[in-house]
Amino acid sequence: MSESAIRRPRGTTDYFGFDEEVLLGLERLLMEESSLYGCKRVNPPVFEESRLFHRSVGESSDIVRKETFDLLSKGDKDYTLRPEFTAGVNRLVLENKLYALPDLPVRFSYMGKVFRYERPQSGRLREFYQYGVEFLDAKIDLDTSLDALLLSIEATKKALKKDVLVLINFLGSFQSRENYKKALADFFRPHLDEMCDDCKKRFETNPLRILDCKVEKDHELGKMAPRIEDYLSAEDKKEYDAIVSVLEELGVSYRKDDGLVRGLDYYTGLVWEIYDAEKPTSALGGGGKYSSLMKDIGGPEFEGIGFSLGIERLILDMTPERKKELSLTSPLDVFLLDFERSGKAIALAQKLRKEGLSVSLPSQQKGMGGCFKMADRLKARNVVIVFEDGHIELKDMESRNQKAVTEEELITLLRR
Ligand code: HAM
Repeated sequence: MSESAIRRPRGTTDYFGFDEEVLLGLERLLMEESSLYGCKRVNPPVFEESRLFHRSVGESSDIVRKETFDLLSKGDKDYTLRPEFTAGVNRLVLENKLYALPDLPVRFSYMGKVFRYERPQSGRLREFYQYGVEFLDAKIDLDTSLDALLLSIEATKKALKKDVLVLINFLGSFQSRENYKKALADFFRPHLDEMCDDCKKRFETNPLRILDCKVEKDHELGKMAPRIEDYLSAEDKKEYDAIVSVLEELGVSYRKDDGLVRGLDYYTGLVWEIYDAEKPTSALGGGGKYSSLMKDIGGPEFEGIGFSLGIERLILDMTPERKKELSLTSPLDVFLLDFERSGKAIALAQKLRKEGLSVSLPSQQKGMGGCFKMADRLKARNVVIVFEDGHIELKDMESRNQKAVTEEELITLLRR
């Protein structure tokens, strides 16, 4: 039996050509946007100790229960490919004692690949990029919360050049959330027999997550459950009202959604998700505040707030024109044809590169006509030809003028 071809794993993407240029352009835009908010980029490892995600993202989350890529143990520790960044960034802050810095909050941004073993479909991948930020401080104040929320909105709007809709909810301080969980458990307990297997587990680990169940019967039941607003403290309500009034003042389209609990266990306080305002089908990004994550992974009392955007979801939502604008136009300064073939052309290429000019060469198998067609496809600005007798000619691809030049003249002309 013949062996099947080796293929890209399901739910992953081969980035090359135009798609890679869109990705690079988007990364540049998002990083520039974050720097307007004082963020510095961090780059934690792609895999971490498995227990980091169990303690932060949480045992009741689908991510940890069903979707992690766990690496085969080779030593005495279990490792998992990161399903998100928040846990890793908090571990980085803890391990490097950055919580002791005098200048708080720390404002970190990131972009990289994350891995979730999901059923692949459009906008739902197993390997995908997330961009995001985490702001950390002993106590996250209103300004920091608003800055994180507004950055997520502005970054999405600028990336897509579209309006966005923000769904927000307030899960309350740790104590309010615990009281609410208790009320939910009391409400769901008599219905446990009729509920789906996932919700039976959620009932034990985090009843809040039952509100996120997509199974029709459980979803309907969730609508009758106690509402979080009734469990918020006066302080929580004040903070939520202040956030909402700033959104109103800035004209941000938002909708309060008290069923929004998010799929990760660590949230307390403000949570939100961002959608394309015109087709709010799947979330482009989401985030929220977390007050005990750092403690749960063995650190001090330290809070955080952040969000992540799904890069592939953003790209999927972009118009072709927007993609074209974003794709880095990295024109080629010089396409160098070497008909002398003694290595002199490569020495010349190195000289031009030292001048900051980009230079590429075709295969030596190609004839003159083929080389010029290739130069056009690569959108080269100039073609430089080193002829068999060693003389050099420069062709400006816009004016189509071609003339013989010395090496010195060539460098002067190209510098211009
Ligand atoms: P999340 O909601 O799990 O939050 O993911 C954020 C975004 O990643 C989603 O809104 C979506 O755009 C994208 N995403 C999620 N799963 C997939 C998938 N299978 N395929 C493609 N894109 C996907 C977090 O990850 C939190 N760490 C956000 C956060 C940061 N909270 C506080 N700080």
